[in-house]
Amino acid sequence: MSKTYAIKTFGCQMNEHDSIKIGGLLAPMGYLPSNNPDTADLILFNTCTIRDRAHHKAFSEIGIAAQKKQTQTKKPLIGVCGCVAQEEGAALIHRFPEVNLVFGPDQIHQLPRLINWVETEKKPAIATELINNSEDYEFIDTVDTLRLKGPTAFVTIMKGCNSVCTYCIVPQVRGKEVCRRPKEILQEVQALVARGTREVTLLGQTVNSYEGFSELLRMIAEETEVARIRFTSPHPKDVKEDLVCEYAENKKLCPHIHLPIQSGADRILRKMKRSYSRKQYLEKVRLLRDARPGIAITTDIIVGFPGETHADFEETLSLLDEVQYDNIFAFKYSPRPKTEAWEMKDDVPKEEKEERLDQLLKKQRIISKKINDTLKEKTVEVLVEGEDRLRRGLLSGRTDTNKIVNFTSPQPCVGDIVGVEVVKTFSNSLEGRYAGKIDLGRNEGDRAHH
Ligand code: 5AD
Ligand code: SF4
Repeated sequence: MSKTYAIKTFGCQMNEHDSIKIGGLLAPMGYLPSNNPDTADLILFNTCTIRDRAHHKAFSEIGIAAQKKQTQTKKPLIGVCGCVAQEEGAALIHRFPEVNLVFGPDQIHQLPRLINWVETEKKPAIATELINNSEDYEFIDTVDTLRLKGPTAFVTIMKGCNSVCTYCIVPQVRGKEVCRRPKEILQEVQALVARGTREVTLLGQTVNSYEGFSELLRMIAEETEVARIRFTSPHPKDVKEDLVCEYAENKKLCPHIHLPIQSGADRILRKMKRSYSRKQYLEKVRLLRDARPGIAITTDIIVGFPGETHADFEETLSLLDEVQYDNIFAFKYSPRPKTEAWEMKDDVPKEEKEERLDQLLKKQRIISKKINDTLKEKTVEVLVEGEDRLRRGLLSGRTDTNKIVNFTSPQPCVGDIVGVEVVKTFSNSLEGRYAGKIDLGRNEGDRAHH
């Protein structure tokens, strides 16, 4: 009888993708994916520590599983991976003796060996070494993974982060930047396309710090049959002329960029060590919009960073007016251990952070709705990803500008790029009706269906 595993994933796309890779490593060991942690032979928590709340959540979920294990007759293996595993290491086993495995993001490839070790030695395994050089780092392919479904896929092109943003714990838990070889990336995209992938999202902590990033985008566009290329997340400091040019010329590159700004105030940007000013950021936005009119721009913002005054926050509000983002992700500042900002006084009260977050999101909701309203009665290009999760009979996909579209269709078209006439708009999504298949003039006929 084969064994089963249940994996719970927290945090960013990097983690989501790591969970897919983990599934790929477990499959040849005879492990089948399961949604039921109560009966699984192996329970994994792929954790996030970007903010205190995520860290807490991981601990509480691990605690629940650990407690349950005490009462179970058939005891599962419990493993903790991801960023909390990297941060806490052996401390996790001391806190929860029921945990059998702790492994960091750079040790995923060791998982089969670690499981075998735990089973033969009957002792917990801990693997939290960071790998900071390209000779020793192994990127894991995901093409054969059972868990890979639908027409979109992530492709890792680099790992780690060499930036020094004072609030951020990521460099500690994901180590230094290591770039994957272009040829390896190209082969993975080609293999994905052969099994039906139509859109790839290139992944990296500061994805455009990849050496030769714009050349890589061009190569993927020219040498594969993939229809759409995205990437996340870029750092504004590395948005340069070559990337701007790529937006102008590479039609497979989706007209969307997620460009985290973090604050609209130069004083705060300096304290965050973001290495750009508001003016420099705005100049990059202008260049991108000149290169690709209509490009959608989204961002990340932190409110209540140490020393953020009302005047500083006003500058973040005015930035929203100035940029007209399609959408934002906003967070209350959360002090993280061993970061530079940990030493600064977390002096914006919790209620004030909440108030600022609220104000920001309210403002953005109006802007997003207004931008989405301009799409009413227009036909947008949608890659159909699957059925709407909440409402039966509706299909769901994304525009090239990364907007979620739910729509009615007289025929199944998952995996197709179709026109959808927008009938209703919200601040976070669009609703519409099928308006015909879009012929992109690329090998539509011999594409694999699923
Ligand atoms: N507190 C709050 N938000 C943070 N982020 C990163 N570190 C912190 C922190 N300590 C946010 C940033 C980043 C996003 C992924 O999470 O906005 O872009
Ligand atoms: Fe969370 Fe950052 Fe780790 Fe992603 S890289 S899981 S956001 S801590």
